[in-house]
Amino acid sequence: MRVTGLRLENFRNHALTRLSGSDSVNVFLGDNGEGKTNILEAVSYLCLTKSFYAGNDRVAAQIGKEYFVLEGELRSDRGLDFTVRVTFDAASAQKKFLVNNAEVETLASVVGRFPVVILSPEGGLVTTGSPSDRRKFIDIAISQASKRYLDELLEYRRVLKQRNKILLDAKIARHDPGDAIEPWSESLVDHGTELIVKRREFVKDFAVQVADAFQKLTGEQETPSLRYLPSVDIDDGADSAAIASEFAVQLTENFSEERRTGSTLVGPHRDEIEFTINGLDLRKFASQGQHKTFLVALKVAEFHYLKEQCNETPVLLLDDVFSELDEHRSHRLLNMVGQLGQTFITSTSEQVFAGALESNSGAKRFFVKQGVVTNEEAGNFVH
Ligand SMILES: Nc1ncnc2c1ncn2[C@@H]1O[C@H](COP(=O)(O)OP(=O)(O)O)[C@@H](O)[C@H]1O
Ligand SMILES: [Mg+2]
Repeated sequence: MRVTGLRLENFRNHALTRLSGSDSVNVFLGDNGEGKTNILEAVSYLCLTKSFYAGNDRVAAQIGKEYFVLEGELRSDRGLDFTVRVTFDAASAQKKFLVNNAEVETLASVVGRFPVVILSPEGGLVTTGSPSDRRKFIDIAISQASKRYLDELLEYRRVLKQRNKILLDAKIARHDPGDAIEPWSESLVDHGTELIVKRREFVKDFAVQVADAFQKLTGEQETPSLRYLPSVDIDDGADSAAIASEFAVQLTENFSEERRTGSTLVGPHRDEIEFTINGLDLRKFASQGQHKTFLVALKVAEFHYLKEQCNETPVLLLDDVFSELDEHRSHRLLNMVGQLGQTFITSTSEQVFAGALESNSGAKRFFVKQGVVTNEEAGNFVH
């Protein structure tokens, strides 16, 4: 997939921005706060229906404006063109997503149609942050690849919320939640088991791709690895039925503790995915450089995974990542992404791209200043 055209109206500090993207590398240059990341955020809206970092659509509408409109001309690998539009109206707090002028039934149905891989400073949390940051990473990856997984995930979250509410209400009222909890426990096990099976399968396949990407990036002999550590204690080869019954047993075992805390203590919402390099836990032992390289490897692996699963080449969004890498790894990364697919890159520094852009004749350079974007062909690059 490629973004051939992009239009932002009343979006963040972009009153009206139109641009046509290059099929290969698009670099957005400008000082801090000029509106570069906002452009990647717009692409994220068009592919994922939402921002990759902000949870609230309202803050994305330009200050003083009551709506924003984003439009993308997207071309699939097979050459089909789609006009995708996201509109947000602040008064009604309504967001609409239209494909070729037809509104989609649910936002969730869009996820995976226009796959995207995003590498951003916020994304760094996946290696340094809490287990929930790692769950979020694998959830986004698997959800883009599997509509069924996303449905199960949304359903699991709904059930979990209800079950927690019953536990908490009972705790506050000093009641026994009694039979009311039963159907929710069963539902939790049903949907949770699907998540566990899929996550286990994903991590196994994905670990191989991460190791491959890591070695290509560094050229070194470090071996990264991923391991799925489910909250429900299961045997390695356990099938769905065995996982479900284990899950149910462990819920029962924890029930008195759940009543005490007023929350659900076992299940995929407490899973962990362990990252290691040469067998050592990344969070405890890795250098900053290793964290960054691991993150990039995760993203490159995600790209390959989605390309295969969605049958569509993802668009790559790289926000401010080059300023943090040394020149050697920057060049390796630039060369690598240039060969993968269409890429949108933001940076405050032209330096990193000088040589690389000249050798890539299809690359485009854009300058962003106070929400206004100007373009200059990469060939005209002036030192
Ligand atoms: N809703 C909004 N309305 C107007 N301006 C906004 C809004 N949200 C953010 N901005 C402005 O956008 C700029 C940040 O844009 P961003 O794309 O993050 O910059 P950068 O070029 O550093 O990536 C800031 O100047 C900020 O004030
Ligand atoms: Mg930025």
